[in-house]
Amino acid sequence: MRQGAGLNLADIPASAARDESGVTEAIAHFGRKHLPLPLRLIRDPAFAIRALRYALRLPTPLRTRDRWVLEQVILPAVEERSGNQTVVFVGCDYYTWHYKRFFKGHRYITIDPDQGRARFGGKEHHVDFMSNLPLLLAAGSVDAIICNGVVGFGVNDPQEADRSFTACANVLKPGGLLVLGWTPGSCSFDPMKTAAISRHFEPGGLPSLGSNFVETPTAYRQTFAILSRRAVTG
Ligand SMILES: C[S@@+](CC[C@H](N)C(=O)[O-])C[C@H]1O[C@@H](n2cnc3c(N)ncnc32)[C@H](O)[C@@H]1O
Repeated sequence: MRQGAGLNLADIPASAARDESGVTEAIAHFGRKHLPLPLRLIRDPAFAIRALRYALRLPTPLRTRDRWVLEQVILPAVEERSGNQTVVFVGCDYYTWHYKRFFKGHRYITIDPDQGRARFGGKEHHVDFMSNLPLLLAAGSVDAIICNGVVGFGVNDPQEADRSFTACANVLKPGGLLVLGWTPGSCSFDPMKTAAISRHFEPGGLPSLGSNFVETPTAYRQTFAILSRRAVTG
């Protein structure tokens, strides 16, 4: 595992792993998830608290160590990056709805093909596939794209991944940032080995992290790659 001065995985607090449940808990959670809403509010206290927090417009984050890395280290570093005005976040869920708050003063755009996820998107949200980004945004107009948990959860084959990353390259400025996060066990292929990544991207872009690849110390080894759009395509 590579790790740099900026991000020390040993600094992740134990409380950040609260939602990294085991198999038994995952099965119980699946059961609760399929209860009718009123019953679930009674039977699933964590869900009830989350629903209340969501109603009060309070963040409803996932407590996992990869989220800690994303939310405490990567997103602030993306926000601080100079010249970062237009940021695209790909794939939305209840635990990401508040990410717009990291990017106040920026143009924050979200995209997800699932209409039901639109409520977790930003003010500027597109119900669409990331491979269609060039139809929605001008070429070379975006400073950073964050694409976490989408490969293996919708972008499921190398061809679609290639189309999706080519689309990212199209809308990113030269030197623009692509933060790619994936769960190795949920992907049938290595997203870093797709042609579009080697053609259009090179590692780097967030020097404050001290590393361009972070494998988090979770059982599912959520991995982040920090990539920059090449000025000249390779
Ligand atoms: C596991 S969730 C990940 C949510 C979030 N990005 C995160 O950080 O966890 C996967 C999301 O990606 C969305 N998704 C699937 N295929 C997509 C695609 N081709 N383009 C954009 N979003 C997609 C799904 O609808 C779903 O909401």
